Amino acid sequence: MNARSLPIAGRGAAKYVDPSLDLEDEIARLKKEKNAVVLAHYYQDDEIQDVADFIGDSLQLAQAARATEADVICFAGVHFMAETAKILNPDRVVVVPDMEAGCSLASGAPAERVAAWKARHPGAVLVSYINCSAAVKALSDYIVTSSNAEKIVKHVLEAHPGAPILFAPDKNLGGYLNKKLGVTMELWPGTCIVHDTFSERKLVGLRERHPGALVLAHPECDDVVLRMADFIGSTTGILTFASKSDRREFIVATEPGILHQMKKNAPDKTFIPAPPEANCACNECPHMKKNTMEKVYLALRDLEPRLEMDPALMRASRVPIDRMLQLST
Ligand code: 13P
Ligand code: SF4
Repeated sequence: MNARSLPIAGRGAAKYVDPSLDLEDEIARLKKEKNAVVLAHYYQDDEIQDVADFIGDSLQLAQAARATEADVICFAGVHFMAETAKILNPDRVVVVPDMEAGCSLASGAPAERVAAWKARHPGAVLVSYINCSAAVKALSDYIVTSSNAEKIVKHVLEAHPGAPILFAPDKNLGGYLNKKLGVTMELWPGTCIVHDTFSERKLVGLRERHPGALVLAHPECDDVVLRMADFIGSTTGILTFASKSDRREFIVATEPGILHQMKKNAPDKTFIPAPPEANCACNECPHMKKNTMEKVYLALRDLEPRLEMDPALMRASRVPIDRMLQLST
């Protein structure tokens, strides 16, 4: 049979996509037919970014999910991002190309353990990075993303003077904020499997070979990498900085999917992905890369895998998400 077999996560079944289909055209047709939008994170494959109605960082994707009037949201990103879209749109259909696309930060912070941590600190304010499960969001007082974390933690300090602050689940982002704001939030010991692997040693070598290049880093990177950065920011922050800068060369310490938009925005500039320690593709997010054009097509065609969530959990986790969106305007 002249067709590819694609196992659909969690269903034990295989679906077949005719390889002669023009997936770009099919996705465009299905979007119209189903009144659907595709929201994609910058770490998606180039071809998925090219069929998306909106591409952004996690804050912008949450804002786009809140603003859309489409009947169907196809979320090309990872599970916690799709959950946020569903929490903001409980009555709409949210489909994900691959239900198994998780995140090491979210899976490293199970809600029961976060709840026990919180219980050991009565009176503390829990600030959680958006890269966590809906159950952890429901336990949290505030949610932040990498683009608004500084602003929101400053707000927390003003709104809760003297209260201890717990920050979950990324110790690198939390450590960066502690240093930048001169605070001592207690940090959950989680890391991103991608950003934590950039090699200080190789980065030093790369910088020596490209003395004119600026190092741009995501705050999920380890402190040794952040100390070498000329700019630290969210994916959108990195993209905007590189587009506006009058420098020509940049070493980019985040998932290399971002390079697609960086090159589009500034075709005459050079972008060099920061290398991981091992000789592997470990600077690529294995979760984000689970999504493919075939799976986006199937999700739109069949309206599954569909994200279904407990209504009470959606209501509880929406409270700190709404708070974050309000504080981000
Ligand atoms: P952004 O908020 O910058 O999009 O980061 C999300 C993420 O998962 C980074 O690894
Ligand atoms: Fe999670 Fe890291 Fe992948 Fe971002 S890059 S989705 S933080 S595992």
